[in-house]
Amino acid sequence: MIATWQQDPTTTITLQWIGEKEQDGLSRNLWYRKSRTKTWHEVAHTARRFPHTDLWQFRAELTGLDPDSLYRIRVGLDSPQESVRTMPAKATNEITFISGGDSGTGSAARRTNEVAANQSPRFVILGGDLAYENGSSAKTFLKFIDQYSADLRDERGHLIPLVACIGNHETVGFYDKTRQDAPFFYAMFDGLYPDTGYATLDFGDYLSLVLTDSGHTSPIDGDQTEWLEKVLKEREEMPNVFVVNHVPMYPCVRNADDRLHAAMRKHWSPLLERYNVDAALEHHDHAFKRTHRMKDGLINDRGVLYLGDGSWGKIRSPEGPDKRPFLAKSTESYHLSLHRLEGKDRFHLALSDHGKVVDAVHTQKMARPRRS
Ligand SMILES: [Fe+2]
Ligand SMILES: [Fe+2]
Repeated sequence: MIATWQQDPTTTITLQWIGEKEQDGLSRNLWYRKSRTKTWHEVAHTARRFPHTDLWQFRAELTGLDPDSLYRIRVGLDSPQESVRTMPAKATNEITFISGGDSGTGSAARRTNEVAANQSPRFVILGGDLAYENGSSAKTFLKFIDQYSADLRDERGHLIPLVACIGNHETVGFYDKTRQDAPFFYAMFDGLYPDTGYATLDFGDYLSLVLTDSGHTSPIDGDQTEWLEKVLKEREEMPNVFVVNHVPMYPCVRNADDRLHAAMRKHWSPLLERYNVDAALEHHDHAFKRTHRMKDGLINDRGVLYLGDGSWGKIRSPEGPDKRPFLAKSTESYHLSLHRLEGKDRFHLALSDHGKVVDAVHTQKMARPRRS
């Protein structure tokens, strides 16, 4: 079973599980109860074929939940219990979550899974290249989901919800494709992405994730850029706004002048700067990097921080700040990023697949830029 979200994580949870027969769902609805209460509630679920398989995929969304609460879950009344937490309504205490990308199902990914789980984050964001099934291997995708479900448990065994955005390895052909070319990603996550490859997820009044599609099933410019401007403008007052993209605007391995990076820097970076985005979480290049704050393509204290570049389970050797002046730091290291929100303060730690601190940076919301 895997937990994710399609609406406000303070009051909802979406649960999904795979069965061999349609009857696995029909006779066995999902039941839940709030921890320390006695009454089980039944909730309807949807059932559909999982693409390219004979398996069935079931989904139930729990809504109207209490914030910051633990819920017990079971499929049918005789199955083992699972448990999952809603997010707090207010960011009064510290909130910890983890981001990363480019996982796959290998041994490095399992080690990074373990480091992530040991932090007991409230949730994980994977910014694309989850399973490396390339839109064609259901077996590989389901192996990734099974490993996530087994490994990503907090210190009490509760499910750690997964928020995902699309990368090239979700897609047959990688770029300029359609939703049909990313069958497994959309089968699992179309609750959050019912029509487009991009979406927002707002956590109460304290955190917004702006999840983009870096040219895999939606073009960069046009509709998506218009949407990005609209949603960033609407969230200008939000205390924490993170844009999540698979392909990096400021890559540490690939050529920064390549088409996609250049298009994203042209169309998206100015919007991140104008609407005071706190950081862009980037992936795809398979190394650790932290940029300087960047504005108009130059280092600027009032600019945007870019953290990346997706090495949960895949690794490459990055260029250094000598070759790419926009980089503050880069290393060839598997890593995840641990984000801790504490009132006005934010801490971003990069931890290696063995739990070593690779990097640490402290940020605060920037004073709003004056508009001319
Ligand atoms: Fe990748
Ligand atoms: Fe990628």
